[in-house]
Amino acid sequence: MRLRHKPWAKPELEGCPFNIENPSQYRGRWDRQFPTRQPLRMELGCGKGGFMAQICRMEPDYNYLAVDIKSEVLVLAKRAIEGAYQGQEVTNVRLMAQNIEQIDAMLSPEDVIDRIYINFCNPWPKMKHKKRRLTHPRQLMKYREFLKDGGEIWFKTDDAPLFDESLEYFAACGFSLKAMTRDLHNSGIQNSYATEHERMFSEQGIPIKFLIAVKGELPKGSPDPGSF
Ligand SMILES: C[S@@+](CC[C@H](N)C(=O)[O-])C[C@H]1O[C@@H](n2cnc3c(N)ncnc32)[C@H](O)[C@@H]1O
Repeated sequence: MRLRHKPWAKPELEGCPFNIENPSQYRGRWDRQFPTRQPLRMELGCGKGGFMAQICRMEPDYNYLAVDIKSEVLVLAKRAIEGAYQGQEVTNVRLMAQNIEQIDAMLSPEDVIDRIYINFCNPWPKMKHKKRRLTHPRQLMKYREFLKDGGEIWFKTDDAPLFDESLEYFAACGFSLKAMTRDLHNSGIQNSYATEHERMFSEQGIPIKFLIAVKGELPKGSPDPGSF
């Protein structure tokens, strides 16, 4: 799906009051971008926004940043969130186009993120591309900078190698596991908000892997992200 197939995506996003152009300008000041000051959560790679459109309404006591790199999916997220709000003003979500590999350009320790959701990020199976994974230690060490102590990362994927290697990444970067299953839908763990990719993979009979990682102390000798 290329942007040229949706020439209306950028203009529509530019006219959207809850879309943020140039998110880096709010680094360290995200709490002031919402009418209500409340804990800030974020979804990395929100895609078409199916997850965000549910959680922002069902858990309204949080503010949310929904981040994706592609305007042509963000515009669909915009519409999904507007649909969830049924014509009312969207108060607790801000959408933004941002490459998550450079997430530190838009978030600082002052932003104090309460929880991060990563749903069905690209598995990047080739060795030379693994550092692009959103759970790679290179990324986890960036998230640690703005995720509060004891803050959580909720991670779902269909991809077994990505999941297994992510277990190593989380441990190396000082996260402990609060929950973990290789078959979420048969685990008894409550799973309130299915994503587009989750539905697609479930229909194909692929079990959904899920974990909750809690930020703790870094192990002695910080990990070398280049060694993974
Ligand atoms: C497989 S889709 C999953 C979408 C959605 N989370 C779901 O579960 O249905 C992965 C999403 O991550 C986005 N993405 C991948 N790499 C990214 C990056 N480096 N920065 C921002 N978004 C990225 C893609 O544009 C895509 O929308």
